[in-house]
Amino acid sequence: MAWGSLSVLLMMLALVFLAIRARSSGRPGRRPLWLLLGGGVLFPLSVMAALLAYAYLAAPAQGEPAYRVQVTGHRWWWEVRYPDAPGAARYSANVLHVPRGVPVLIELGASDVIHGFWVPRLGGKMDAIPGRLNKLVYTAEEAGVYQGQCAEYCGIGHAAMPFQVVAHNEAELSRVLDSLPTHSQGSP
Ligand code: CUA
Repeated sequence: MAWGSLSVLLMMLALVFLAIRARSSGRPGRRPLWLLLGGGVLFPLSVMAALLAYAYLAAPAQGEPAYRVQVTGHRWWWEVRYPDAPGAARYSANVLHVPRGVPVLIELGASDVIHGFWVPRLGGKMDAIPGRLNKLVYTAEEAGVYQGQCAEYCGIGHAAMPFQVVAHNEAELSRVLDSLPTHSQGSP
C-alpha cells in the first residue's frame, strides 16, 4: 500500500509539474477526454481494485480460535476480561495477555461511545460499539509486546487510549493470569 500510494503521489507531482510548465509556456491547455477518463476514473478504480484484491488474498488465514478475551472500550481505557482463565475470570486494563502463536478471539464491545480497536502489526481494526458484540481474530506469532491504539475519535481522551497486546509462551501466560485480579479494577 505504501509503495502504491508513493507511485500515485509521484505521478501526481509529475502531472502538476507538467501543468505548471505548460501554463508558464503560454500555450493553450489541452484537455483530451482520454486523459480525464483515464486519470480520473480508470486509474483510481484499478488501483483501488488491485489493493482490495491484494488485501483479501494476502490476509492470513486464521485458524479456529483457541483462546478468548473480552474487551470493552470505555472513555478512556480498555477493560479486558479473560472469561476462560482457570479458576475464575480475570481482569486487566489496557493490556491483553494472550498466548503466542494461537488464534485469539477478541469479543469487542463498548460502554459509552464507539471506540476503534486496532493493533496494526496484528491485523485490521474493528469498531467497539455500545450494545453490540463484534468479533475479531488476531494471531501474535512471536512473543512480545504489540502496540494498539483506539482508532475512532471518542472524545477528549481519545489520544490517551493506547493499549498493548502482550503475547506470552504458555507457562508465562498462566503465571500472568494467576496474578490478575478476579474483579475489574476500573480505570487505571
Ligand atoms: Cu476510544 Cu478513541
